[in-house]
Amino acid sequence: MTTHAENKLLTQVGAGTPMGALMRQYWMPACLSSELTADGDPLRLALLGERLIAFRDTGGKIGIFDHRCPHRCASLFYGRNEDGGLRCIYHGWKFDAEGNCLDMPNLPADQGFRDKVKARAYRAAERNGIVYVYMGERQAAPPPLPMLEAMLCPAGELSIVCRQRECNWLQALEGDIDTSHFSFLHTGKIKAEDIDPGHLERFQFTDRAPRYHVKRTDWGTMYAAYRPAESGYTYYRFAHFAMPFWTLFPNGPIADNIIAQGWVPMDDTHTMVFTFTWTRKTPVIGTLKTGEPFPLLDRLMPTLPNTTDWFGRWRSVQNSENDYLIDRNAQRTISFSGIAGVFSQDSAVTESMGAITDRALETLAPSDVMIATTRRQLLDAARALRETGRVPPLVDDPETAFEARSGDLIAPESEPWLEAYQAAIRQAVHAAMPVAAE
Ligand code: FES
Ligand SMILES: [Fe+2]
Repeated sequence: MTTHAENKLLTQVGAGTPMGALMRQYWMPACLSSELTADGDPLRLALLGERLIAFRDTGGKIGIFDHRCPHRCASLFYGRNEDGGLRCIYHGWKFDAEGNCLDMPNLPADQGFRDKVKARAYRAAERNGIVYVYMGERQAAPPPLPMLEAMLCPAGELSIVCRQRECNWLQALEGDIDTSHFSFLHTGKIKAEDIDPGHLERFQFTDRAPRYHVKRTDWGTMYAAYRPAESGYTYYRFAHFAMPFWTLFPNGPIADNIIAQGWVPMDDTHTMVFTFTWTRKTPVIGTLKTGEPFPLLDRLMPTLPNTTDWFGRWRSVQNSENDYLIDRNAQRTISFSGIAGVFSQDSAVTESMGAITDRALETLAPSDVMIATTRRQLLDAARALRETGRVPPLVDDPETAFEARSGDLIAPESEPWLEAYQAAIRQAVHAAMPVAAE
């Protein structure tokens, strides 16, 4: 059981909190590269409870600052992004992408002190379509960028999608390491006989109550959900949690399912999900054996137009204000939830728990062992950092998680589950090579 004190520790990410300190050890996705154009509009970013401004200067460099001007705290969101820097519109002070003050035009030349002033800037880096930010203490020499394989796929073979989830980061993430909900929330109305009998994923419909192996790993946690397959064989679905907020979930055969999802806390009650997918992977099962698409199971549903609000980016059209457009007739006939789209179905259940779920009210079951183990992993890492200063996993050794892979496979019943996993990893197709730590 998770106590109130543990729940607070797990869910609060602001400056000065133990989980906030843990998160600040890592580089995090901040936004898509395409959201920032040279000399374009500054972007409001809420990250770990802080309110930041991101911009791309004339030469393409990215700046990420506290949104308050270091002069008298007017928001740099209204600033002029021009000629190699961001100029505050209040008194005209101007800052380069590193936060150095370039100009104090409201002061006589002999009274200026621009070499003594700096915007509160964080380190930014860009790779493969994503802008990363490092908000920790090692600003002068930050650790290497994260290195999950999905982030390193060649740019032309990588899909990156952003979506906002309007609840705490951990309850959103926990949906991804909870495989048994798939056969209910998403596919509860689909029967095994509706599926092509040759399809690997059909066993999720023949047996909706898998058993689990769960293990702590060098990068976080992993599980294998297993059910009987043909006689003498077992159907496995493997998934990982990687520190501090990454999930690798089963979404096709393990051989080529290169995927990662980052549940980036914007604050304690808003999360931005970044989904990285290698596009040359085997397509997942998406149709009934008649060739018809699964009813109401589109992967990507429309978003509202982005606004400039702190929480105005990548919001779904279906949201709590319209009950996710639930169709009760569809719920009675063709769909378990009546809600269209996999992401929206997940949003409905995770957001309906409340902005920060009260975990003391839960009744965890054997199907939740991965979730309980992952909470324990996070609590241990946050406490070790706070009490002994121990740097958590993957901060300085992100390549450790490069070979983590999620997906499904069938193995002989007699083969131990970890051996089946490791054999699959040895044979896996790679889309990228690990690069040496920077
Ligand atoms: S508040 Fe920004 S220049 Fe004065
Ligand atoms: Fe789901």
